[in-house]
Amino acid sequence: MTLYTRVELGDDAMLFHGECSKVMALLPDASIDLTVTSPPYDNLREYNGYTFDFEAIAAQLWRVTKPGGVVVWVVGDATVNGSETGTSFRQALRFMELGFNLYDTMFYHRFNGVPTEGRYYDVIEYMFILSKGKPSAINFLNDRKNLTAGNRERKDTVINKGKAKEKDTGSFVTQKYGRRTNLWYCVTGDNRTGHPAPFPEALARDHILSWSNPGDLVLDPMCGSGTTGKMAVLTGRRFIGIDISEEYVELSRERIAKALQQPRLFTADTPAEAPAAQQGGLW
Ligand SMILES: C[S@@+](CC[C@H](N)C(=O)[O-])C[C@H]1O[C@@H](n2cnc3c(N)ncnc32)[C@H](O)[C@@H]1O
Repeated sequence: MTLYTRVELGDDAMLFHGECSKVMALLPDASIDLTVTSPPYDNLREYNGYTFDFEAIAAQLWRVTKPGGVVVWVVGDATVNGSETGTSFRQALRFMELGFNLYDTMFYHRFNGVPTEGRYYDVIEYMFILSKGKPSAINFLNDRKNLTAGNRERKDTVINKGKAKEKDTGSFVTQKYGRRTNLWYCVTGDNRTGHPAPFPEALARDHILSWSNPGDLVLDPMCGSGTTGKMAVLTGRRFIGIDISEEYVELSRERIAKALQQPRLFTADTPAEAPAAQQGGLW
């Protein structure tokens, strides 16, 4: 295989067919605002032309991420000889050794989980939020329905939990929606993409909205069917995608080219609270 093949998609998106650590090596230091990606899980699936060198990929991710940039690493473990492999945790710890903050360990709860024998049904995948210093972009999604909406609460008991030096006699009314928790519910990705393990579109979109701003450069070094790329261009970001499989790069190209023809869901002028109102289906 030549080192890489480049697929142009206009000013806002670019795809590469190649091994991602080698292609990332061509990117400048500190050039990427946000990476949203998912590696092959413990060889659970066979991918065309598969090779996976975690060490080389992690080192390149550290190098290309801007200070304040974020890597969202979505991963799960296989069960081998009765034990989960723990690969996910090892990878998260290795990222920390390289210098990343483990900013948050988030969970993705699949609605359509697979029944497992001898264990509770497995519906969880990890979403490690790895940041190079404090994230530059933090745009929380506030679409979790508050059970106590409309109630008047004393600031003293709820916000300060009685620990403020001065007694705060003020009060506030609980809003209809509050900040999400770090457990996100999503239906698994759409297999009609032609890829065996696509991201749910909402998962990619919501991380892009949370950890980047319009105009930022988003990377998916193992982009598969191009879900991160599609949601990046729809949310007004720029995108670089890489995959080792020529077939998947073509899937990505088709999906991203279509997205580039569609109106952007969000632009720099979109108010921060707008995404929440449009995501009622998730909660
Ligand atoms: C879990 S899938 C990603 C799916 C993607 N998030 C989507 O929404 O379709 C992992 C992808 O990594 C690719 N891959 C595996 N090793 C790779 C490598 N060393 N460099 C680039 N891509 C790789 C596989 O071809 C596969 O498409």
